[in-house]
Amino acid sequence: MDLLFAPARALAGEVRVPGDKSVTHRAYLLSALAEGTTTITGANPGADCEATLAALSALGAQVSRGEPGTARIAGRPAGFDAPAGDLDLGNSGTGLRLLTGALAGHLISGAATLSGDASLRGRPMRRIVEPLVSMGAEVTTRGPEGTPPLTVRAARGRLRGLLHVLPVASAQVKSCLLLAGLAAEGTTVVEEPLPSRDHTERMLPVFGVAVRRPAPNRCALDGPARLASPGALGVPGDFSAAFFWLVAGTIAPAGELLLPGVGLNPGRIGGLTVLQRMGAAITVSNRRTEGGEPVGDLTVHPARLTASDVAPEEIPALLDELPALAVAQAYARGVSRVRGAGELRVKESDRIRAVVNALRALGGTVDEVEGGWDVTGGPLSGGVVESRGDHRIAMAFGIAGLGATGPVLVREGEMIDTSYPCFYSDLRDRATFR
Ligand code: S3P
Repeated sequence: MDLLFAPARALAGEVRVPGDKSVTHRAYLLSALAEGTTTITGANPGADCEATLAALSALGAQVSRGEPGTARIAGRPAGFDAPAGDLDLGNSGTGLRLLTGALAGHLISGAATLSGDASLRGRPMRRIVEPLVSMGAEVTTRGPEGTPPLTVRAARGRLRGLLHVLPVASAQVKSCLLLAGLAAEGTTVVEEPLPSRDHTERMLPVFGVAVRRPAPNRCALDGPARLASPGALGVPGDFSAAFFWLVAGTIAPAGELLLPGVGLNPGRIGGLTVLQRMGAAITVSNRRTEGGEPVGDLTVHPARLTASDVAPEEIPALLDELPALAVAQAYARGVSRVRGAGELRVKESDRIRAVVNALRALGGTVDEVEGGWDVTGGPLSGGVVESRGDHRIAMAFGIAGLGATGPVLVREGEMIDTSYPCFYSDLRDRATFR
């Protein structure tokens, strides 16, 4: 489906962003592993989290739905049943990688095969398969080059804890191994070159499992561990969803946006730091903690931006925000360089190539480098953007149209539904178009 984003005169109002996608995946998985029933509220309604929930249901967790964003999950602490068919994780790398970790030591008998759409079937899985196999798990991939479909067989004995040092920071790999470590004998330790988002480490104690964190980039847990449901668990608003509004509200000619209840996990808000350093007018108020996660209300006004480089050590905390940040860079005065973001090449699309092509299609000036890009600020003319089936590319370049001289047409705009189903209607309701 093509989506049209017209230039705006103003963008104003309040936006309740959907629940955090990363936190929702973890809430579903830990609830499914826990003793007791958990009621999760504020869950992300997108197709990615729905796929994880459907997979857990196929594995024997009892799932019931209430109001939108609410799910009740009765856990299976004794282990999961082998599913009747393949588990389809759709477009979701987080769903597939975290569920594989949970299954590695929790499948009672038989096997489970996990797969997804064409994008997911092209994503690298050796990064989880190799350490899981070292723990004693039986995990194989059928795709070429260690790509899905991926099959987990019930482990012959108990898994063994391990010390795994990641070559590249990855919250998905870290979380996969911690979930496997819950069923392992001994200690599982994960070390990263830079700290990645720590939602799993924050949520496990909510389910009664202690996680040691001797350094920001190192965490450990002792297995086997039993999880106990907290009964109720709220999911904060998704910072990555809010970030599209932060950029949109900055480049729009006029207006004020209020974004209440947004998760402000320090491992997620690097994009806010960079936007503020570029001159964005964003304030944070009403800071609080919900379900172990920091939360606040954000307000954004239009501002003139100045270019700013993004250094490799900043990447993990703004990884998913880079496509929208590229749009902010295109509207900033000067040249902004991004380096050390090579992981973007193995996301839902090759996001470096997608960003470069999209900016050029809109009349922007950008050079591609291996681990990033150089964007030179200047006016955007509008044009046609290929989202490459990637929700974040679709949203990032859709909002680019708000400040452009002509409209932006986004191809395959329906992929936005993987994380933010009402984004387009929310935007149309808040914008006054030229
Ligand atoms: C996620 C981790 C990130 C991010 C993804 C969600 C998670 O991937 O890009 O959208 O929920 O753990 P990495 O594994 O590269 O950190």
